[in-house]
Amino acid sequence: MRTQKYSFNSLENEILWFPTLASTNDTAKELAETGRNEGTCTIADEQTRGRGRQGRTWHSPPGAALYLSLLLRPTLHPEKLQLLTVVGAIAAAETANDFVDNDSILDIKWPNDLLINGKKVCGILVESAFEGNRIKYVVVGIGFNLNQTSFPDDLSDSATSLRLQTGSEYDREEFALRLLSNLGRWYLELQQGKSEEVINKLGELSSFIVDKTVTVDLGGQQITGVTRGVTETGSLRIRQDSGEVIVVNSGEIVKLRS
Ligand code: BTN
Repeated sequence: MRTQKYSFNSLENEILWFPTLASTNDTAKELAETGRNEGTCTIADEQTRGRGRQGRTWHSPPGAALYLSLLLRPTLHPEKLQLLTVVGAIAAAETANDFVDNDSILDIKWPNDLLINGKKVCGILVESAFEGNRIKYVVVGIGFNLNQTSFPDDLSDSATSLRLQTGSEYDREEFALRLLSNLGRWYLELQQGKSEEVINKLGELSSFIVDKTVTVDLGGQQITGVTRGVTETGSLRIRQDSGEVIVVNSGEIVKLRS
C-alpha cells in the first residue's frame, strides 16, 4: 500500500492506494470504524468483490479504471443523505468535463450514473452508518471507467470508458485528484446548507430530471411517467398518466420513451 498526501477542502489528508482490495468501500468503512478522519480516500488498482447498487457486482479488472472511496462525516440531516449521491454524480460529471472535449455528451442518469454518449462510464455507491438517528459516517464509492478498451459481453452494450469514447488515455492519479477536489467543493456546499445549489447543478447536468418519460424500477414494482424535477432531498418526482405525482427516493430508471 502506498500513501499519498493530498488536501481535502484545504485540510491535509491521505489517499491510500492499494494494489488489490475486495472493495474500496469496505476498506473505507473499516477505516471509518477505527476513527479515521473525513477526507481519507481509498483507491485500488483492482477489486475482487467490487460492489454496485442493488446487490450487483462492479466489474473491476486491474489497472484501467478508477475505484475510489471517500470517507465523510457529514453533519447533514439523514433525510439529505441522497444528496451525497448527487454530489458524487456532479463531481464525476465535472471531472469528466475537465478532461474530455465538447464533442462528448455527458449526462447524469438519476440517481447515480454518469453517461457519456448514452453509455455508462461511472457509477456511484454511497453507503452510510448511523449512531442513533445521527449519521456516523458516509462512504462515497466511485467507479470510473477510464482506460478500458473492451468490456465483457454482458456489459458491452451499456458500459463504456472515456478512452473508448475519446481515443485518449487518462492518468488515474491526475483524474482522482481532480475528482476529489470537485467532490470536496460540492460536499462543502451541502455541509453549508446550500442544497438548492446542488439540486440546481444536477438540473444543469442531467437531461433526466424534467419532462422525460421514464420507467422506474422500484425494486420489483415499475412505474412509468414524466419526470417533474427533484425534491429538496434529491428524490425524483414522476407524474403518472393519472395525474398523480409519485416521489421516488430510491429506484432506477430502466426505460426511456421519447
Ligand atoms: C453502481 O453504478 O451500481 C455503483 C457502482 C460503484 C462502484 C464503486 S468502485 C469503488 C467503490 N467500491 C465498490 O465496491 N463499489 C464502489
